[in-house]
Amino acid sequence: MKTVITYGTYDMLHHGHIRLLERAKALGDYLIVGVTADDFDKSRGKINVRQPLEERTEAIRRLGIADKIIIEQYEGQKIDDIINYGVDIFTVGSDWEGYFDYLKEYCDVVYLPRTVGISSTEIREKDCMVELGLVGDSGYLHKIINESQYVNGLKLSGVCTKKPEKFSGAAELITDSFNELLDSSNAIYVHALPEKHYELVKKAVLAGKHVLCESPIALSKAQCGELFDLADKNGVILTDALRTAYSTAYHRLLLVIKSGCIGDIISVDSVCTSLKDHTDLQKKDLSSLWNSITAWGPTAMLPIFQLLGTDFVHKDLTSHYIDETSRFDIFNKAAFYYPKAVASMKVGNGVKSESELIISGTKGYVYVPAPWWKTDYFEVRYENPADNKRYFYQLDGEGIRNELATFVKSVERGQNDFSIGRNVSLKISEVMENFAADTDVRVI
Ligand code: CTP
Repeated sequence: MKTVITYGTYDMLHHGHIRLLERAKALGDYLIVGVTADDFDKSRGKINVRQPLEERTEAIRRLGIADKIIIEQYEGQKIDDIINYGVDIFTVGSDWEGYFDYLKEYCDVVYLPRTVGISSTEIREKDCMVELGLVGDSGYLHKIINESQYVNGLKLSGVCTKKPEKFSGAAELITDSFNELLDSSNAIYVHALPEKHYELVKKAVLAGKHVLCESPIALSKAQCGELFDLADKNGVILTDALRTAYSTAYHRLLLVIKSGCIGDIISVDSVCTSLKDHTDLQKKDLSSLWNSITAWGPTAMLPIFQLLGTDFVHKDLTSHYIDETSRFDIFNKAAFYYPKAVASMKVGNGVKSESELIISGTKGYVYVPAPWWKTDYFEVRYENPADNKRYFYQLDGEGIRNELATFVKSVERGQNDFSIGRNVSLKISEVMENFAADTDVRVI
């Protein structure tokens, strides 16, 4: 008996897949089909797969061509499978020509001609759900422009900016009119200065546009709440753009900790800093810059609020301003006191420190090295170093790619699939409000 094996994602099953499977089966007597697991797809850069593993597997089962279906979960698994199942022929489409020649050591390798004119990518692209307009002047928007190319179902509609020279050629529409951008988009990404967020988000939401807004969404809790209410009334998605929340390593870190591996959480210490030239800063128009609390506060508070919740009983904040006259803070250190835990955040935009994240528990601690907000790695450490565990996850586009893909999915399903809860967004806005009002703030 000749055993044949083939692998694929089989997202939105199409006739290209079916023809491949029929020909694969005809190569022998028994066909094994490997369907890639969601995580494995993500780790190899396929982040837009529409159907979950169960649906994709069920579609293959219903076809009735496969004699056995297996799940592909890890790099190198093909070799294991070929040996374990006594496979005679490995086959895939000719788009992989040459790529799997290393398997010739274990079995025959056959590349079957790919069916022209159809692919899962094309099907996903056809129903483009999101026409995303960007607003802001920061060079950071180039990262969004770049990452948007990797996300199916999303098309860049334009950029609204006061600095058109920075974005020439980046999109078809470059305008200084927000109304014009709204007219040509069904979703908006806001990366303007924080004091402009409320006004821009409100306008977009009232115009029926979905919004991804760089955190903080607003500079007061009431305004943030009002925007969420308006979004619900207008049936649109509104959420913080906080790329760290979408990095696989960060997401896994939350799950690992919540599963109890370090016991009860007693302390979360989060540091986010970047260095700016001090004299250079003093010469600049400070009103056009993000201060340390708005630039880094939301990211630093994210793990604190996601792990300990937002019901702290007291907080205090120590701020350092660039000089006596301006209120431009370049450094803040805050403590959040919970009934049975304490957290600290240290943020600097002009003051540098080791930007790590440490979560201390009664059984051990988690260490995320600097810069923790774009890490692909963390460690769970115990008293006995032999028990330590290290975790690596591929980080694509600093988390932006997953953030955009999640946004598209949310728009498509009409429900918020974001991992940042509204309580977190509201609390972040409240801390910004307290900072501006000098509530519980000590200046040094
Ligand atoms: N395949 C094919 N003809 C097509 C599309 C896919 O023969 N038009 C084959 C691939 O070569 C592979 C199998 O079907 O052997 C599963 O491919 P998969 O990557 O799941 O499908 P694609 O449509 O290529 O997906 P994507 O666009 O996401 O890459």
